[in-house]
Amino acid sequence: MYSRADNPSYDQAEALLASLEHAKSALLFSSGQGASAAVFQVLLPGARVLVPRNMYWAFRKWLLEFAAPRGLNVELYDNSSLDDLAAKARAGKPQVIWIETPANPTWDITDIAAAAAIAREVGAMLAVDSTAATPMLTRPLDLGAHLVMHSATKYLNGHSDVIAGVLATADDSEAWQRIRYARGAGGAVLGPFEAWLLLRGMRTLHLRVAAACQSAMSIAAHFEGHAKLSHVLYPGLPSHPGHAVAAKQMRGGFGGMISLRLKPGEQAAKDFTARLRVFKRATSLGSVESLAEHRASVEGPGTLCPADLVRLSVGIEHVDDLIADIAQALQG
Ligand SMILES: Cc1ncc(COP(=O)(O)O)c(C=O)c1O
Repeated sequence: MYSRADNPSYDQAEALLASLEHAKSALLFSSGQGASAAVFQVLLPGARVLVPRNMYWAFRKWLLEFAAPRGLNVELYDNSSLDDLAAKARAGKPQVIWIETPANPTWDITDIAAAAAIAREVGAMLAVDSTAATPMLTRPLDLGAHLVMHSATKYLNGHSDVIAGVLATADDSEAWQRIRYARGAGGAVLGPFEAWLLLRGMRTLHLRVAAACQSAMSIAAHFEGHAKLSHVLYPGLPSHPGHAVAAKQMRGGFGGMISLRLKPGEQAAKDFTARLRVFKRATSLGSVESLAEHRASVEGPGTLCPADLVRLSVGIEHVDDLIADIAQALQG
C-alpha cells in the first residue's frame, strides 16, 4: 500500500536475513543505529535496561546522552565479566539485556547462551549486536537470544555503499509487534534500492566472511609478539581472554576484525595508521577493502578506547599484501 510500511524489495531481503539467522522474521531498518534504537524506543519511560560498557560507541552515546535523559534507566555492565552481568540483571530486573559480541573495539566476547539463561531467569529480553560475527559465524537465536541486530552496512552488504540495519526475532512476540509498528510509524525504513543492493551484497557473504576470517587469523598469528606491539586483540588467538567462549559459539572462524595496541603509545599508533598503504585509513568495517583507523580519534572526547589502539578491518585482498603492509608501517 505504501513503502513506509512494506515493499516487495524488503520482503526478499528480510526473508533471506530471517533464514540466515534461523529467525521467525526480520525487519530492515534505515541503519544499524535505527534498528538498535527501535529495541529501546518501544519501552516506556522508567524501563530498566542493562547494556555493556564496551560497545559500539555511538550507540552507547545515544543510550546515555539521548535515551537516558528521556526516561530510559540505563545500567552498564563489564563485558569481561558474566558475573557482573548476572549480578546486575538479578538486582535490577531489566526489561532488555543488550550484548555485543565480539565487541568493538577490543573484541571482548560474551557467552550468548549463558547471557540468554540469565535473561530468561530475570524475565528480560536478550538482544545481541552480532555485526562483527555475521550469521556465517554465530547464530544468537539458536543460542537462546530473543533478538539479533546487525549493522547491515558492514559485512551483510560488504561493499561500503549502503547504510542499513536489521533486527531478527526468535518469536512473534508482542515486543516484536511494537518494534514493527515503531519502524513503520516512525519511518526508519530502508529504501527499496538499498534493499536491492543489500541482496546483491549478501550473495557473496559466505565467501567474503571466509576470506576475512582466514586472513585475519594469519595476520593476528603473524604479528602476535611483535616488538612494537603490546597486544594483538583477536578472539581467534588463544591469548585472547574470550577465546574459549568464542571457539564455542563462533563456527568457521573468528571474524575479520583485529585491534593492535602499539607499545610506544598514541602518536606511534597514529603514525602507523598513516603509513599503511593497502589498508585505507577510514572508519567502518566489514567490507571487501581493508580499513584501519586510530579508533580513539574517531570516537572523540569521552572515548573508552585505549589511545594506543588501531582497529583493523581485514578485507579480501591477498593476505601477503596485508601482512607486508602492516610490517612496513610498523617498521616506520
Ligand atoms: C558493531 C556495530 N553496531 C552498530 C553500528 C551502527 O550501524 P550503522 O552505522 O549502520 O548505523 C555499527 C557501526 O559502525 C557497528 O560497528
